[in-house]
Amino acid sequence: MLHRNFSLRSYNSFGLDVAASYFVQINDLSDLEDLYKSELWKRERKLILGGGSNTLFLDDYFEGLVLWVNNKGISLSETKNDMVRVSVAAGEDWPGFVQQMLNQGLGGLENLSLIPGKVGASPIQNIGAYGVEVKDVFQGLLAFDMETGVIVDISAKECDFGYRSSAFKTVWKNRFLIISVDFLLSTKPQLKLDYGAIRAELLRMGVREPGIREVGLAVSNIRRSKLPDPSQLGNAGSFFKNPVVHQLVFNDLKQEFTDIVGHPDKNQTVKLSAAWLIERAGWKNRRKGNVGVFQHQALVIVNFGNATGREIFGYAMEIQHSVKEMFGIELEPEVNFV
Ligand code: FAD
Ligand code: EPU
Repeated sequence: MLHRNFSLRSYNSFGLDVAASYFVQINDLSDLEDLYKSELWKRERKLILGGGSNTLFLDDYFEGLVLWVNNKGISLSETKNDMVRVSVAAGEDWPGFVQQMLNQGLGGLENLSLIPGKVGASPIQNIGAYGVEVKDVFQGLLAFDMETGVIVDISAKECDFGYRSSAFKTVWKNRFLIISVDFLLSTKPQLKLDYGAIRAELLRMGVREPGIREVGLAVSNIRRSKLPDPSQLGNAGSFFKNPVVHQLVFNDLKQEFTDIVGHPDKNQTVKLSAAWLIERAGWKNRRKGNVGVFQHQALVIVNFGNATGREIFGYAMEIQHSVKEMFGIELEPEVNFV
């Protein structure tokens, strides 16, 4: 059904009071195919929206058509060597899907527990947490080409996944609407406990021999202790990416800022902690009007209520500017601006 002048307040995790001129739910492929033939499609600017948990609306009115992806369905097909291929509709809720897999004894996604949003958005920025990224279990996806109306199969290689990036954020921006995503999960998964906090949390929970469900629970506990719940305090998780710099740049910074936090990455690079940079620049737990930096995680910008997208954006740019002044590092936003 097509809605006009539709409020998006409960469709974006910043909780911004924004609206769109047109809003339509995509429940199945035929909805898309019908829309594609319509005048509205030809005329209007289009925005694909999942859970709205990585989207910042800059203006309070979106002139165009919002395509809210809400198709459902999870199907498992047995494959060999303890591996199971799972095909999931893009409109499925990500944390709910992960929990279902854990309950069925299928591993590979446990470290990605409790990340808000929908399955269809998971390849967009190659979501990641606690040492795992979606690309590690990704098998391919089906997408609707918004230019030609044709459905295409897209492989992992074509997605060109990187840290918080994929071809969908660069060369294919706004080109494909993802319909379903395939993952390869395991009935005998190798647990990934390298992130120190996971082991510590398992210990605190009194778990000696963890399985995937315990790891999922440990990750969820850690996340709840650090990140604000968008239903209580509007936010989109990390606002910026962690900057990746050459080892030599890191060495220089380390001379001046001896406690700077960074982890070795590929090809002589170091991934710096953006949270540390922001905290060190004095922003943690600082508030300006309706916007501020979260008290437990400096990388999370929050809406204390009634903020506008422009206020949040302006505040983020002030942070970006001050980090650049202090460290010479340009923070790149992770959040998608509309
Ligand atoms: P949306 O915000 O709706 O969309 C994000 C982008 O994807 C937009 O550009 C949109 O156009 C596009 N898109 C959405 N669906 C489709 C589709 N079906 N086809 C094509 N394009 C589409 N992210 C992490 O990686 N790791 C974390 O640990 C993490 N923690 C978070 C914690 C909190 C509290 C919050 C609020 C966010 C966090 N995020 C994290 C960010 C966010 O959860 C992810 O980016 C998630 O994948 C966004 O899903 P969504 O459906 O809400 O996307
Ligand atoms: N730190 C600070 N100040 C803070 C918070 C953290 O100095 O306020 C330092 C600490 O030294 C800490 C380190 O930063 O040990 C890392 O912090 P944390 O484990 O919270 O992870 P992060 O690097 O800030 C990244 C992702 C998160 C993901 C976690 C766990 C990015 C941009 N963010 O955060 O993803 O959940 O690791 O893997 O890569 C998201 O993308 O939205 C997101 C929340």
